Amino acid sequence: DTDVTIYPGLLSLTSQGELVRTLKTEKAVKADIDAAVKLLLKLKADYKQVTGQDYKAGCPPLESTVLEDTGPAAAVDGEDMVDPWNVSTTSAKGVDYDKLIVRFGSSKVDQELVDRIERVSGKKPHRFLRRGIFFSHRDMHQVLDAYEKNKSFYLYTGRGPSSEAMHVGHLIPFIFTKWLQDTFDIPLVIQLTDDEKYLWKDLSLEDCHRYAVENAKDIIACGFDVNKTFIFSDLDYMGASPDFYRNVVKIQKHVTFNQVKGIFGFGDSDCIGKIAFPAIQAAPSFSNSFPQIFKGRKDIQCLIPCAIDQDPYFRMTRDVAPRIGYPKPALLHSTFFPALQGAQTKMSASDANSSIFLTDTPKQIKNKVNKHAFSGGKDTIEEHRKYGGNPDVDVSFMYLTFFLEDDEQLDKIRQDYASGALLTGELKKRLIDTLQPMITAHQERRKQVTEEMVLKFMTPRPLDFNF
Ligand code: TYM
Repeated sequence: DTDVTIYPGLLSLTSQGELVRTLKTEKAVKADIDAAVKLLLKLKADYKQVTGQDYKAGCPPLESTVLEDTGPAAAVDGEDMVDPWNVSTTSAKGVDYDKLIVRFGSSKVDQELVDRIERVSGKKPHRFLRRGIFFSHRDMHQVLDAYEKNKSFYLYTGRGPSSEAMHVGHLIPFIFTKWLQDTFDIPLVIQLTDDEKYLWKDLSLEDCHRYAVENAKDIIACGFDVNKTFIFSDLDYMGASPDFYRNVVKIQKHVTFNQVKGIFGFGDSDCIGKIAFPAIQAAPSFSNSFPQIFKGRKDIQCLIPCAIDQDPYFRMTRDVAPRIGYPKPALLHSTFFPALQGAQTKMSASDANSSIFLTDTPKQIKNKVNKHAFSGGKDTIEEHRKYGGNPDVDVSFMYLTFFLEDDEQLDKIRQDYASGALLTGELKKRLIDTLQPMITAHQERRKQVTEEMVLKFMTPRPLDFNF
């Protein structure tokens, strides 16, 4: 097993410090010493930015520093709250995602990365990439470097089946995952955490498992290829796969209660199932959890598309990975699909009025948008025509940025709304006309999903790849 410190830059920092000392004692050329010192100072500045501590030679940061710094406790007054259970901000424009990147220590999906994905894949970047909806990442360049050298990777994403009904927000990671699978032609594993929902909610095991199977139908309806995709319920797969459980135990051994407390905010009266659960969400990030797909190999790189609320799980996973001899999973994070009432919070299944469900009828969609979608328009038509609306806080416009494919049309809607040429009612109609056929088509595809198909997706089996 490799022995890697929590802050990866520490190794280079330590050796750079040694280099400077050696150069000085050996009275090297001044230019060489200056260059080495300059690099050392830069490494120290990076170190401070990531760990929040000054670097002291021979004194690594506390093991949990990086993790604790980024948990829910970091959401001090006035800061946005983002964790797997809560998303809230006081700004009508939504969470400040640039600040979140700094707080979580991830990297921005910038134009350079989007261009590179286009170059490497030879495909036009998905609208979620073009529009900054998948806005943050970890190690994507590394994934692409390897892919260019013909080293494949696999995708891992998931869903916590807390009810039969999924909402439109839940589709975001799955729509994008489907695009990634088609674009890179790689295996995909999808975890349904029925165990998590049993531990967190007042639901029976049977209900959670049933929801997992029902949700699998909605996921399959997104168009995944059965020969390239494995969907599993934790309640089924944990017991059926010794290799999966071995990884869970390995992870559990390498994370302390202090660490999960710092990351997830668990307290003394949380049941022990919750405390142990993060290891179960971490395990699919390692390829040897799926011997039937990867033939026991543990070195296949994993890429996880999800909304940024799930990142705490994977900060923990990335911390553990090198200590148990596995590659760290890479990540692509999306912003949140906002609640109908406004971007102060994400669309959430626990509030029926905040959400458009995949089961809604065209009429329900129309009523919800007209009645509840927060508007950035002015109070009267006269004022709106005169001053224009504010697309940055308008939920209907935000929804269109997720789902309207045509960039030019979207841009025109933004301009017309901001100038006052387009009224709120007209903007809402554009959204309704976009959502209704999309949801109806989803429902049609879901109807085609048979029990046999679900069973096939959910059976551990080799996929169409040679590892
Ligand atoms: P869950 O069921 O809360 O959410 C499923 C996926 O949807 C994303 N998501 C959203 N994305 C955009 N806008 C929203 N309003 C919104 N709400 C939810 C979530 O980030 C997630 O990607 N514990 C997880 C299940 C899980 C998982 C994973 C998710 C297990 N392994 C690996 C992602 C990757 C959960 O309860 O997700």
